[in-house]
Amino acid sequence: MDTSSCRNAIAVVSMLPLALLSLSAAAVASDDPPFSCGPSSPSRAYPFCDPSLPAGRRAADLVSRLTAAEKVSQLGDEAPAVPRLGVPAYKWWSEGLHGLAFWGHGMRFDGAVRGVTSFPQVLLTAASFDEGLWFRIGQAIGREARALYNVGQAEGLTIWSPNVNIFRDPRWGRGQETPGEDPTTASKYAVAFVRGIQGSSSPAAAAAASPLQASACCKHATAYDLEDWNGVARYSFAARVTAQDLADTFNPPFRSCVVDGKASCVMCAYTDVNGVPACASSDLLTKTFRGDWGLDGYVASDCDAVAIMRDAQFYRPTPEDTVAAALKAGLDLNCGTYTQKHGMAAIQQGKITEKDVDKALTNLFAVRMRLGHFDGDPRGSGAPYGGLGAADVCTADHKNLALQAALDGIVLLKNDAAILPLHRSAVASAAVIGHNADDPLVLSGNYFGPACETTTPLKGLQSYVNNVRFLPGCSSAACGSAATAQAVTLASSSEYVFLFMGLSQEQEKEGLDRTSLLLPGKQQSLITAVAGAAKRPVILVLLTGGPVDISFAQSNPKIGAILWAGYPGQAGGLAIARVLFGDHNPSGRLPVTWYPEEFTKVPMTDMRMRADPATGYPGRSYRFYQGKTVYKFGYGLSYSKFSRQLVTGGGKISAPDTRLLLAGVPAMTVDDTATYYHVDDIGTDGCEQLKFQAEVEVQNHGPMDGKHSVLMFLRWPNATDGRPVSQLIGFQSKHIMVGEKSSVRFDISPCEHFSRAREDGKMVIDTGSHFLSVGKDEWEISLEA
Ligand SMILES: *[C@@H]1O[C@H](CO)[C@@H](O)[C@H](O)[C@H]1NC(C)=O
Repeated sequence: MDTSSCRNAIAVVSMLPLALLSLSAAAVASDDPPFSCGPSSPSRAYPFCDPSLPAGRRAADLVSRLTAAEKVSQLGDEAPAVPRLGVPAYKWWSEGLHGLAFWGHGMRFDGAVRGVTSFPQVLLTAASFDEGLWFRIGQAIGREARALYNVGQAEGLTIWSPNVNIFRDPRWGRGQETPGEDPTTASKYAVAFVRGIQGSSSPAAAAAASPLQASACCKHATAYDLEDWNGVARYSFAARVTAQDLADTFNPPFRSCVVDGKASCVMCAYTDVNGVPACASSDLLTKTFRGDWGLDGYVASDCDAVAIMRDAQFYRPTPEDTVAAALKAGLDLNCGTYTQKHGMAAIQQGKITEKDVDKALTNLFAVRMRLGHFDGDPRGSGAPYGGLGAADVCTADHKNLALQAALDGIVLLKNDAAILPLHRSAVASAAVIGHNADDPLVLSGNYFGPACETTTPLKGLQSYVNNVRFLPGCSSAACGSAATAQAVTLASSSEYVFLFMGLSQEQEKEGLDRTSLLLPGKQQSLITAVAGAAKRPVILVLLTGGPVDISFAQSNPKIGAILWAGYPGQAGGLAIARVLFGDHNPSGRLPVTWYPEEFTKVPMTDMRMRADPATGYPGRSYRFYQGKTVYKFGYGLSYSKFSRQLVTGGGKISAPDTRLLLAGVPAMTVDDTATYYHVDDIGTDGCEQLKFQAEVEVQNHGPMDGKHSVLMFLRWPNATDGRPVSQLIGFQSKHIMVGEKSSVRFDISPCEHFSRAREDGKMVIDTGSHFLSVGKDEWEISLEA
């Protein structure tokens, strides 16, 4: 997103009272009609006001009535009103990454609604591996957006979330916003969250075409995951990306988002991918999004991406040529003013035609139609979401959901000698040390709004322990100097010691990547000194987005337990305390690999996922990385012992070591190294016939009830020819009582789950062995002609 607006948003937060005043002043009531096609509208009789027609037809009718100048005026994120047709102004840019946010221009928090539910930052929520949870969060954010709109505090309902870029490099400042490094997880997150925002009735039901509760936007397509590394900034980064990595890593989340999530928007990234800026790529925007994936919605640019295409990427010589390149490629909306400014000249110079603009505007107005903004008053009691208002924001349900998400995401990384859970009665006094213990802002990560209420970790602990003494230790996460002597004195005179350390937006955020994976400044020496002085092993809670190298803490016996709590949102402090005191059994699992510091030798600009042993390039993510890890993808402890076993499923797979027959598939390809089929050749029917179910039996051996997430992977016999070491193909999370056995079923589609990308990006399935694996349990399934 546009950096200057982000700076504004941060200013809003740091000077809240003042900013609220100035926001109210800016929110001068306009004379624009608040909605279109009402009883007194000048356009009532036009087809675009006829709700019985399809949205696309209505939009085309409206566009046909606009002058060229009016058309061009609609091409930016702040679209003016067209009063003669009763079309109100519209603000396209709002954000709802993990709750409605200050970022963007579409929403204000200065009226009847002054707080919104702040869910955990996405990476922590992803650690729950729970699609139902992700759906409910999307649903709650969509409802709060509608409510805000209905009370007059939103001038749009188009939310530019989720961010489903792959968290490719641990240093990425925006990795915290994403569901992690795995394309299957990111794809399922995209679908669940988008369906929730847009108003599907359930996580399994595809989004209804109309009406939309709110519109979601998957961003930033594609291969965007670098802010600023070694002098290379995201605005001018020319990424070299292989067809193989695009096919099985960078593009799948966007594909799922559009094909299965039915997202009504995709945002193109700043990234120049193999010589073409994403927002000027007709291959991506038109052929792939609209053609192959069937996008029904609009394509937005990342903010000022069109201007950047000329001024930083020098892609085209003049502004008019640049605007033409983007529109002709299939861009519908430019975030910013560049296209509005130069669009008319581009038409006059013959670089684009009015038809090019019509195509974009039809996509844009069709989404506004689907939001119900051209059916009379959308706030009326008869309108689909008309009943929502201030009482639907920060409801008890939404607040509980924010707590639930934090509880289900928190990952227990170390619990030596079962020091956790603690017993409330045993902890008479405690020292709480750390800059992240009592800072409400750190709970939010980036892209946030005003939380309805906030519980910091310090407050959370105080609800369990009466005698708590607190020392920040460092003045911020940078921790240039530490109050080590004071901290040591405090620790040595307390029964229990809790350290709340980690990162903040000072180290990782939009525009800022890390250069080191270690805890910043004096944090490590402070933790070690405190642990050394404490009476018993200390408890270390890390609030970070991206992973950190904490090998020093892993191996220190005086650090008894380590928790990763991400940026846990408004209820984060309470969730942490509940986990520490055993009122919740942790079940989160890391959605990213935690690499050692030596990984920072790898240039961030090297986009390759696959390792290159010849040059010492280690590869990226659990699927390809060959080096040492601090913690592996999917790692996470519980207070209970769970076992998992693959058992016989229904249908054609009735025993381990099973053969799947590929009958009637046209041609098998034999190359130097393998024999395989092209997925396209197997066809829809063939793929359908290959599907089967696998069943996994999970048992909770105690001592505590709790959730368990079952992760099912596919493994190939070897990792040659760019095959992943393994690939997550599904996951399910289930609450299981002590002693109980429960079974979870996985729908396996070999065309999707057994296929791999060839170097040219074509998806193929090897003949021969494939292994389904859950924990240490494996099933060999052989595909035969
Ligand atoms: C690796 O596995 C593939 C697919 O099963 C097989 O065709 C190939 O021969 C194997 N290569 C090696 C070197 O074992």
